[in-house]
Amino acid sequence: MTVTSVNVPFVDFSEQHQPIQTEIDRAIQTVVQQGNFILGQDLEQFETAFAAACGVDYAVGVGSGTDAIALGLQAAKIGAGDEVLVPANTFIATVIGIIAVGATPILVDCDPDTALIDLEAASKLVSDRTKAIIVVHLYGQMVSPQALQDFAQSHNLLIFEDAAQAHLAHREGKTAGSLGIGAAFSFYPSKNLGAFGDGGIFITSDPEMARRVKAARNYGTSQKYVYTELGTNSRLDNLQAAILNVKLPHLKSWNTSRNQAAQEYDRAFETLENKGIIPLKNYCGMGHIYHLYVVRIRPEFGKNRDTVQAQLKEKGIQTGIHYPIPCHLQPAYSFLGYQKGDFPHAEALAADILSLPMFPGLTPEQVKTVVEGISVISI
Ligand SMILES: Cc1ncc(COP(=O)(O)O)c(C=O)c1O
Repeated sequence: MTVTSVNVPFVDFSEQHQPIQTEIDRAIQTVVQQGNFILGQDLEQFETAFAAACGVDYAVGVGSGTDAIALGLQAAKIGAGDEVLVPANTFIATVIGIIAVGATPILVDCDPDTALIDLEAASKLVSDRTKAIIVVHLYGQMVSPQALQDFAQSHNLLIFEDAAQAHLAHREGKTAGSLGIGAAFSFYPSKNLGAFGDGGIFITSDPEMARRVKAARNYGTSQKYVYTELGTNSRLDNLQAAILNVKLPHLKSWNTSRNQAAQEYDRAFETLENKGIIPLKNYCGMGHIYHLYVVRIRPEFGKNRDTVQAQLKEKGIQTGIHYPIPCHLQPAYSFLGYQKGDFPHAEALAADILSLPMFPGLTPEQVKTVVEGISVISI
């Protein structure tokens, strides 16, 4: 077996972690020395700072982005009998959150140029049981706040944001997570703001929503051994919060670095566009934080996505697919009753999207290596 050495990795943390390694080590040591592991002051400090960064009043650290969705929906009193609109091409956790509270996900197709939820398609799926829409700011690009708020208002729906891929993304003067009743973020290590393990946060400007999630993450406790909410154990570790406190001040510049690398890709692909490599469109300018840089490999290219991915791998260029199977075609969710063909855009994207290396510090030379690596495949 030949092992190809990595030429351009999909993610490289060194640019992020090396300059702050000493500070992170110190933060970890302090938590360990103080034995301050659960619901400590680092968590409180992080919650205050993260809420302020997103322009909302409250943040509640939880165990994962998935839990932030489920606990947020529970706090909004969404449950059995309610329908929630959600994109078909999201990461499965968005759907898991809806099912966790006993509500029914109503899947919606996407815009093929951006992979974001198609609000026109969503409007045709609203029923008298529809209570909310969860938008996913997929790949780091926000759904238009104005279009979303107009949509929600005209159908009398709550807005919930899955901002797991959109830390500090912005559009039309609004920041991701500030548009509706609440929002969920993930701190999975490879996210734009990543912990050293699992973690998530729920944010809101509604004090009652914040109070409920705060109780629910801690067994439903409002006062020791008094349980006023249905709860679980899902707290963001104080140790993770201490690490995130060191990283948060750098997030904006890391996002800018990603955006610059994306512009570099865009420029390089302009010459290839008529050959069938089509980057997804950016309608947010610098507000797109490029958690992922995704291109479509159209039939005109002459080689399909899987071939391109395999050949790039041989050249030591790592890529990903986010995501190869849309939610409605996942085996565990067949009970929802969807079939192949129900969401043509989501299905077409699943077949031809490819996520290219993207991380803060990705150099123009690395971008060039990736784009040249792709361009010679068509020949
Ligand atoms: C869009 C989206 N939603 C939800 C999640 C779930 O977050 P977590 O992995 O922290 O549970 C993720 C990330 O994994 C995600 O990308």
